[in-house]
Amino acid sequence: MKILLTGASGLLGGNCLARFSANKSVQLFATHRDPAFIAPDKFSNGQKTFALDLTDETSVWNVVSTIQPNVIVHAAAHADTSFCEWNRAAAKALNLDATKTLATLAEMFGARFIFISTDLVFDGTKGDYDETDSPNPISYYGETKAEAESLVRKLVGNHVILRAPLLLGVSPRGNRSANEKLTKELLAGRRVKLFFDEYRTPISADALAKIIEEFAIGTLSEITGLFHAGGREKLSREELGRKIARRFKLDEGLIEAVALESVASSPPRPRDVSLNSAKLHSLLPHSLPTIDESLNALPE
Ligand SMILES: NC(=O)c1ccc[n+]([C@@H]2O[C@H](COP(=O)([O-])OP(=O)(O)OC[C@H]3O[C@@H](n4cnc5c(N)ncnc54)[C@H](OP(=O)(O)O)[C@@H]3O)[C@@H](O)[C@H]2O)c1
Repeated sequence: MKILLTGASGLLGGNCLARFSANKSVQLFATHRDPAFIAPDKFSNGQKTFALDLTDETSVWNVVSTIQPNVIVHAAAHADTSFCEWNRAAAKALNLDATKTLATLAEMFGARFIFISTDLVFDGTKGDYDETDSPNPISYYGETKAEAESLVRKLVGNHVILRAPLLLGVSPRGNRSANEKLTKELLAGRRVKLFFDEYRTPISADALAKIIEEFAIGTLSEITGLFHAGGREKLSREELGRKIARRFKLDEGLIEAVALESVASSPPRPRDVSLNSAKLHSLLPHSLPTIDESLNALPE
């Protein structure tokens, strides 16, 4: 089973790298953009990764046509909403155009295509979104991902689209997850404003990687379509922040609860993009960890 993974130096891709590289039935081709990146052993299990700029269409064609993977897991993206808002050409090139290239190649070589999208395709006015709700992004990042979803649906028959929520966990560079970013601030003794009225349904990157593994080579490998891949609990940013502070024994007093409307932000922040993931949860052969279980499983 040949799997081509993009985004292997990132938070989710790194956790997919850890899973697939530990699976003896998988021949893994794991890619990232930065040629200087070397995956820590706990992510790579000694597996070599390689640089592939996904915005270089010719290189992507060469790599995919040489490998001819059975499955492509596309986890690379510009996932920072502010970056995407102010760097639209770069965001479009990776999030949309490169996805189109990979999806086209997946169909051409008969590969299964697993695309990672986001809860930020929604505007946040409703919450508890299920797969029948219509996207209405309010950021350029959300727009690129919603358009990429449409392309994937149109271009590849054998596709899975997983809308991910806010991700927790450990990233290969140690600076990508919600807990890593907050921990850094609190460790430095800086005050942090967290919204008490902005809601997400977080999941750990490790738990999502396990779900992706099920879709790639496990019990869900025959299933196609769109799935919300949120966690079991809906939490405000403040509630999540306090859980993280308590887990890592950091100073919760540095957290200041504020209302969304009290902070101007561009792009605007959706109020409630909680995902209703009942469709996926009912199919999973394993139960998902709670937020506390996920946080407790992280190293100190
Ligand atoms: N993080 C979240 O909370 C969250 C929430 C919802 C959905 N998602 C989605 O989940 C997926 C994974 O997100 P993430 O947080 O794991 O991302 P991330 O940590 O920011 O990692 C991004 C990855 O994309 C790669 N990349 C960037 N530019 C590239 C290029 N030109 N060519 C090839 N690779 C390139 C990066 O490689 P280098 O490191 O080498 O630059 C890195 O491996 C994305 O689709 C994102 O939209 C994330």
